[in-house]
Amino acid sequence: MTALLSFRNVWVEYGDKIVLERVGLDIDAGSFVSIVGPSGAGKSSFLRLVLGQEAPSRGEVLLDGQPMRAECGPDRGIVFQRYSVLPHLDARRNVLFGLECAGARVTGRLFGAARRRALEEVDAMLDAVGLLSAGGTYPAQMSGGMQQRLAIAQALITRPRILLLDEPFGALDPGIRKDMHALITRLWREYSLTVIMVTHDIGEAFALGTRVLTFDKRRHDPHAPHRYGATATYDIALERKTEVQGSDAE
Ligand SMILES: Nc1ncnc2c1ncn2[C@@H]1O[C@H](COP(=O)(O)OP(=O)(O)OP(=O)(O)O)[C@@H](O)[C@H]1O
Ligand SMILES: [Mg+2]
Repeated sequence: MTALLSFRNVWVEYGDKIVLERVGLDIDAGSFVSIVGPSGAGKSSFLRLVLGQEAPSRGEVLLDGQPMRAECGPDRGIVFQRYSVLPHLDARRNVLFGLECAGARVTGRLFGAARRRALEEVDAMLDAVGLLSAGGTYPAQMSGGMQQRLAIAQALITRPRILLLDEPFGALDPGIRKDMHALITRLWREYSLTVIMVTHDIGEAFALGTRVLTFDKRRHDPHAPHRYGATATYDIALERKTEVQGSDAE
């Protein structure tokens, strides 16, 4: 079976600073990959490669066995720790924006029947993340957890195959985090997603992932800290037997 994503000797360099080196791994469709590692290890850079926002400086990234083009496609969505949603749009229009954005190359903004159909999809997605009754609410009126639910809806409205999460729950209270764990687990299964999640919380990495990767430097040059990059130092496959506990049961 061809891996969904293949990294073949991938390097990311900025000028003479090496951030990632010799990254070689395959990611299967349907997996939930957690990535942990120290600050500056290139975790967000790795997500940018998958998003197509950046091309490797050496090596190649394959999507379905084909060289990935350095452009963001509707088959990949991303959620950040903060600032994924637009403050001047209410929840419904934030999710709609995700659709308009994806369709922008062809249609620009949606009008008429297409817009009505899109709004139905938007409401279904708001429902899926537990925000249906908050469609007219603006981000500033929402809790951090609600804003992240909205960010997830915005990322999933284009029905991506790959969902990238960059410390998505890092700013949330522990109780809310648990609810979000249950939500993301449910969405991962319901939408048959491949999830790649960066987190600083080791417990979260192991609780949610089917696989945990650590990014770190294998070698250091104290006189030239940027001489060597980080790579995947541990690659741990997990069995996910247990459901994540949370109050997200529906
Ligand atoms: N566009 C860029 N130009 C130059 N250096 C960059 C650029 N983007 C990232 N870097 C550097 O690359 C290194 C890795 O950054 P990255 O954001 O990928 O790390 P990270 O593992 O996500 O860290 P954190 O845990 O703090 O989010 C950092 O030293 C950063 O300063
Ligand atoms: Mg980062």
